Amino acid sequence: MKYLVTGAAGFIGAATCQKLLAANHTVVGIDNLNDYYDVNLKLARLAQFENDFEFTFVKMDIADRTSMTELFKHEKFDRVIHLAAQAGVRYSIENPDAYADSNLVGHLNVLEGCRHNKVQHLVYASSSSVYGLNEKTPFETTDSVDHPVSFYAATKKANELMAHSYSHLYNLPTTGLRFFTVYGPWGRPDMAPYIFTKKILNGDTIDINNNGDMWRDFTYIDDIVEGVIRASDVVPKADVNWKVESGSPSSSSAPYKVYNIGHGSPINLMDFITSIESELGIEAKKNFREMQAGDVYKTFADTQDLYIATGYKPCVGLELGVKNLIDWYKDFYEKQ
Ligand SMILES: NC(=O)c1ccc[n+]([C@@H]2O[C@H](COP(=O)([O-])OP(=O)(O)OC[C@H]3O[C@@H](n4cnc5c(N)ncnc54)[C@H](O)[C@@H]3O)[C@@H](O)[C@H]2O)c1
Repeated sequence: MKYLVTGAAGFIGAATCQKLLAANHTVVGIDNLNDYYDVNLKLARLAQFENDFEFTFVKMDIADRTSMTELFKHEKFDRVIHLAAQAGVRYSIENPDAYADSNLVGHLNVLEGCRHNKVQHLVYASSSSVYGLNEKTPFETTDSVDHPVSFYAATKKANELMAHSYSHLYNLPTTGLRFFTVYGPWGRPDMAPYIFTKKILNGDTIDINNNGDMWRDFTYIDDIVEGVIRASDVVPKADVNWKVESGSPSSSSAPYKVYNIGHGSPINLMDFITSIESELGIEAKKNFREMQAGDVYKTFADTQDLYIATGYKPCVGLELGVKNLIDWYKDFYEKQ
């Protein structure tokens, strides 16, 4: 099968390409290689595939409508896994324009490409941040997601709405995946697991938001990628019996689905830090501080729907996940 993976140089994108290639699929990966974080890390992720003839990398901005139209027309993808986005909650407060370009215009270009070229299935990244002001846990896809607390989250919710309109109007099967804090080897330098590892190793002080009273449904990268691929294999069908009044917001009379994809067991921030400390054998210097703008107190995924549809069952626990992250981090930066 021929896949387009957007955001192929990213954390989840590169791991997804790797798994698709291992399963003998043909993959075209696109990414604009922007400098939101270290471009060398993005290039190093891509370098893993440089000898794989089934992989082609194209440097492209998904917000560039003309190039995207040409790419879709020329390549004729069977399926699309759309992961390119301006990520990060806090940066969306400083630079909302980057989110409008990549997450709104870019997402529209992907939808248009799928629509005009009869792509079988579009799987795209949403986020647990859509749950915003929700306090009830675990978060279920039947919960209201109308109250985001960051512009990033608002763009991800918008992605789901945009996808629904295309599923409805053009019968395009779409699946949105709400990712919950992904961590592991090749992880993102703007996220806490990487930042903590780096700072503790360098003897720098780590900032601990809300004085450590926070919970995250940390999910290991391999579990996430397994879920992404499983979801791409289950093409949603229109449910003719679905009604707005009685149906779940995560389904539709159109071929449209939204799932949570997390570990399903939230971890206290201090426990996460302790596990990094014990793996490194170093006690962190800690600066406890208030909750930061755009942050949520707790994330906790109910993944029952994804399990029923695909058999998705996360299996990597915190200890092994943190060990793998740290082994990779040491090995990667020793060689730089
Ligand atoms: N990692 C997580 O915990 C997490 C949680 C929730 C949602 N997500 C979502 O999952 C997706 C992948 O996240 P990630 O952690 O791999 O992030 P990432 O930043 O590592 O990967 C995104 C990639 O997209 C590329 N990109 C950004 N804008 C682009 C554009 N306009 N054109 C082409 N390429 C562009 C970036 O260069 C980057 O390589 C994103 O949509 C993100 O919002 C991730």
